[in-house]
Amino acid sequence: MTRKLFVKSYGCQMNVYDSHRMADTLAPEGFVETASPDDADLVILNTCNIREKAADKVYSELGRIRELKEAAAADGRRVTVAVAGCVAQAEGNEIFRRERSVDVVVGPQSYHRLPDILRRAEHVRTIDTEFPAEDKFGQLAQPTRAAIRKRGLSAFITVQEGCDKFCTFCVVPYTRGAEVSRPAAKIIAEAEHLAGAGVREITLLGQNVNAYHGEDGNGRTTTLGRLMHRLADIPGIARLRYSTSHPCDMNDDLVAAHRDLPALMPQLHLPVQSGSDRILAAMNRGHTRADYLRQIERLRAARPDIAFSSDFIVGFPGETEQDFGDTLRLLGEVGFASAYSFKYSPRPGTPAAGMEQVPEAVKNERLRRLQSAIEKCQAVFMDACVGMTFDVLFDKPGRHPGQIVGRSPYLQPVPVIGPASLIGEIAPVTILEVRTNSLFGALAHAPAQPAQSRETVGA
Ligand code: 5AD
Ligand code: SF4
Repeated sequence: MTRKLFVKSYGCQMNVYDSHRMADTLAPEGFVETASPDDADLVILNTCNIREKAADKVYSELGRIRELKEAAAADGRRVTVAVAGCVAQAEGNEIFRRERSVDVVVGPQSYHRLPDILRRAEHVRTIDTEFPAEDKFGQLAQPTRAAIRKRGLSAFITVQEGCDKFCTFCVVPYTRGAEVSRPAAKIIAEAEHLAGAGVREITLLGQNVNAYHGEDGNGRTTTLGRLMHRLADIPGIARLRYSTSHPCDMNDDLVAAHRDLPALMPQLHLPVQSGSDRILAAMNRGHTRADYLRQIERLRAARPDIAFSSDFIVGFPGETEQDFGDTLRLLGEVGFASAYSFKYSPRPGTPAAGMEQVPEAVKNERLRRLQSAIEKCQAVFMDACVGMTFDVLFDKPGRHPGQIVGRSPYLQPVPVIGPASLIGEIAPVTILEVRTNSLFGALAHAPAQPAQSRETVGA
């Protein structure tokens, strides 16, 4: 019997990856994905708990799902509702109490048990938020070739989960647990499987991905840098990326990989959170502003064309106008290509939630100033791309006839006039113009004409 599954992901890319793997694991149970909750038999909300706003969204969405569920029940159709992800892990039974429509609460470490959990949930509300000993990834099903193709040329692989850093603002060490790295052989097999179905770009994911230290198969541990070398050798894999990194874990192997591997894209998301040493210490980041700048320098020395993006928090407890000024100055000093900025959001159970809070109005005002400074940085970076020629991985037709769209090494969308036959391929493009959030370009080599042999020309 086929049943319809609707999965919605909130938050980070790791949730997107987990949602895919949940769908892959439920496919042999007869579940086929649908794009809307309206006709779904099973709805999974894969939730994010990083900030209060993200967590609140789940409850408003659950209200809408409850109405769908009740309307379906009136028609004699049962809809099962599951809450997965970090809100499930953090709130557990509280979710059942607050929302009567929820049948299943499942934490990120238990997704491989979903088929069993769903069978149990036919009779009774079921919760699983354990951190089981068995290897979740080893037991989650791999996607079929058809599922991989549908998801496109770029794929994610989670290589590491959890975090041991305990930044004082962050819930991740509590919701995702301690740092665990997958064995290298498993990651390579997964990458080969994806490449075999046409994937050209792989982004390795982890909450602290550059702390990766998986087994290398010889009883020793390996590093992310060495893993990158092995992935770059897989036929078909043209581009590698990784996210998200911590400045303290940028080890020599990884910096050397940026120098030695053309497939490792010259783009790095390296969250700094604040430019003030006082605030960095209060956040328990384990590095100073100068340490961060040193890492940027090391990486630029290894790969001069590397571009950086970052995350910033404004209004962390105790942040003064001077601290905030230090953050603004850091932005200018590094010259980020892009950045995300967030107002500090107190999370239950984290140390910073109990500290003296910055008033909301101050947070709002700082966020506005930071965002306008970030926009300026982004514009400088985009403008500097004009006239440059770089490789673009084309992944889809454009909005206008005769157009195709790809991604630059820096992830900007690049539309060009070009043949659909280039989709799936990489070709050099000269950037002509900056458009809203994209770079318009022209293929550097006109597409090959049908070959005429020299002999014919000479005759
Ligand atoms: N409040 C605001 N932003 C936060 N982040 C993590 N925790 C919080 C919080 N409590 C931000 C950090 C992190 C990004 C994923 O979310 O900048 O890098
Ligand atoms: Fe959270 Fe800090 Fe770990 Fe990142 S390094 S997941 S911000 S505790």
